[in-house]
Amino acid sequence: MYYAAVIPLLLCLATQAWARYMCPTKCTCYLDQKGRRAVLCKEGGLVGPLNLNNVSLDTEVIKITAPDDNMNELTMSPVFQSYKKLEEIHITKSNVPQLGMHFFWGLTKLDVLNLSQNNITQPLDHNFRGLSKLKELYLDDNRIISLPSGTFRFLHELKVLSIQRNRIEELTPRIFLEVAKLRVLKLSGNHLRELNPEVFKDVQELRSLECRGCALTKLNNEIYHLLPHLTHLDLGDNEIKTLQPEDFRDLTNLKHLKLDGNQLTSIVNSTFIHQPMLKKLNLARNHIAKVSPDAFTNAYNLTELDLGHNELKNLEFLRSVADTLEILVLSGNHLKLHALRVLSEMTALKGLHLSGCGLADIHSPIFSSRLNMLDLSNNHLSSLQSEVLPSNLTELDISSNRFRGISEEVMRLLDNANNIKLENNMWSCDLCHIVPLLDRVNRSTSFREVTCSAPFAVKGKKLGAMKKNELSWCTVPSYPMSDADYFLVARDGKVGLMIAGTSVVLLVLAICGVIAALCYSRRHAAKYYTHEDQLAKEGESIFENNHSPLFCDGELSFKFPLDHGDKKISIATIDEIKKEHCITNGT
Ligand SMILES: *[C@@H]1O[C@H](CO)[C@@H](O)[C@H](O)[C@H]1NC(C)=O
Ligand SMILES: *[C@@H]1O[C@H](CO)[C@@H](O)[C@H](O)[C@H]1NC(C)=O
Ligand SMILES: *[C@@H]1O[C@H](CO)[C@@H](O)[C@H](O)[C@H]1NC(C)=O
Ligand SMILES: *[C@@H]1O[C@H](CO)[C@@H](O)[C@H](O)[C@H]1NC(C)=O
Ligand SMILES: *[C@@H]1O[C@H](CO)[C@@H](O)[C@H](O)[C@H]1NC(C)=O
Ligand SMILES: *[C@@H]1O[C@H](CO)[C@@H](O)[C@H](O)[C@H]1NC(C)=O
Ligand SMILES: *[C@@H]1O[C@H](CO)[C@@H](O)[C@H](O)[C@H]1NC(C)=O
Repeated sequence: MYYAAVIPLLLCLATQAWARYMCPTKCTCYLDQKGRRAVLCKEGGLVGPLNLNNVSLDTEVIKITAPDDNMNELTMSPVFQSYKKLEEIHITKSNVPQLGMHFFWGLTKLDVLNLSQNNITQPLDHNFRGLSKLKELYLDDNRIISLPSGTFRFLHELKVLSIQRNRIEELTPRIFLEVAKLRVLKLSGNHLRELNPEVFKDVQELRSLECRGCALTKLNNEIYHLLPHLTHLDLGDNEIKTLQPEDFRDLTNLKHLKLDGNQLTSIVNSTFIHQPMLKKLNLARNHIAKVSPDAFTNAYNLTELDLGHNELKNLEFLRSVADTLEILVLSGNHLKLHALRVLSEMTALKGLHLSGCGLADIHSPIFSSRLNMLDLSNNHLSSLQSEVLPSNLTELDISSNRFRGISEEVMRLLDNANNIKLENNMWSCDLCHIVPLLDRVNRSTSFREVTCSAPFAVKGKKLGAMKKNELSWCTVPSYPMSDADYFLVARDGKVGLMIAGTSVVLLVLAICGVIAALCYSRRHAAKYYTHEDQLAKEGESIFENNHSPLFCDGELSFKFPLDHGDKKISIATIDEIKKEHCITNGT
């Protein structure tokens, strides 16, 4: 009563101090970014009918929410009617079970009503009566089972309607009656199974439609006929199996299309022939094995294409977008190097994702020179040559591969890169592998965080904690190639053979091993001498520790992926010799 009496007086003053004075305990009152008076109550634990005691009548924004472990238990009550200035109401995480009749009556300035994360089961048209200016309505994460025809018919100005993650199984005819100005409709996470074209007759101005995870099995292209202005369409995580050549015929304004997480197996000729504006296309996580060479003709504006986690083998279709595509995701497709050759023709490409593609070696130049961002993580790579790397990289991800070191040339190429991911490799912290990285260790945390996995003495140590004079000469590799599983190389350099085959195979491999050992140790000894000279010249202090180069551990299986320049050393790892000379016919 006392407050009711002083309100008019203080309203006249209308000072900021007033807003601070009239603030419910456990809430904060402030001016928001747009300079509006806002009240935020987010501590939770509120129980019973909603009340706005101590909330000033000229409040423009009300936000009532709660932390996950202390949700409110509110019921709605007709408290808003004297708050004529309200522009936004957010009552979320409050377990509100239903909305009362005409409770928002008279809020002619209300723009945004957010009732997400409550327990509403059935909104009715009279709940929203009087909200003649409402532009955005959010009812996400409730328990709405059905929406009767005309539920939103008093919301003539509604532009955004979001009813995601409820329990709606059917869109009733005329559900969108009289919301003809609707631009954005979000229905994701409702088990709808199909979209009835009939209901979209009322919302032909739609620009954006989302129905992700709606259990849709097919598309009815009559819908698109009704929605010619659509620019964004998200139908990801459904069960769509096929796209017909001209399915999207009517969507000539489409800019972003998401069909990721469906069950498509191929993209046929002319699928996107009517989408000259298409910029971003997401087809990730399907079972696409084949894309017609003409699938993207006319997609002049396609700049981002995600085909990750499909079953692609052939990439010839990329030729038709070679001049425009800027970002391409092919991660999670098992791709052969020869299939990737087409990438070198993609002159506009800036970002390329080839994570988890089963790549073991990249020896021919497949990257266009303009590439800035390259993701090669989760492959089986053990070395990169500077000739194949694009010269302008700013971002490189080679985490989760089999790198033991990076050569000086490659490091020099990367000196302008600002984001290099290196973790989870087989970094050998010895003089043969890690020096170029160690020299730059202070450049970034990702270098300092590089964790040595060999030699044993420094295993687990971070590069940031290493000193150059701690480095030992060379270490035993674990086999980097994927077919190395046939061998187990013991730390002391003995080659133990684990053969998953017949004893015949064992014999053949053993002979190969001997030949390899012989050839290799000869070349290798020579190599050590040259290295010794070179290093002595450079004044390296490698002789300070006990490892004499001539008695390098595990010389038999030694590998130099990083030798600078001169001749290509024939790297005599056993598995390569095996590959070249022995079991070419299939194991
Ligand atoms: C309203 O403000 C008064 C005085 O500051 C306070 O005693 C009372 O607890 C407040 N009530 C609520 C619901 O915040
Ligand atoms: C609506 O409320 C939810 C839950 O608090 C919040 O995550 C969401 O961002 C809000 N939406 C808008 C448009 O403010
Ligand atoms: C939501 O409402 C239903 C009844 O409609 C009730 O059984 C359930 O307990 C409510 N959920 C919570 C979290 O209060
Ligand atoms: C795709 O369709 C166009 C016109 O319908 C045709 O000219 C072209 O040869 C077709 N391409 C393929 C690969 O079938
Ligand atoms: C799409 O491509 C056409 C032809 O190249 C071009 O004229 C048009 O401006 C582009 N539109 C957009 C939105 O980029
Ligand atoms: C590399 O980037 C610079 C500046 O971003 C640019 O001037 C140069 O043309 C680029 N080089 C290549 C080969 O794309
Ligand atoms: C990196 O920085 C540390 C501390 O500032 C310094 O002791 C170390 O010598 C630097 N390492 C290199 C390779 O510059």
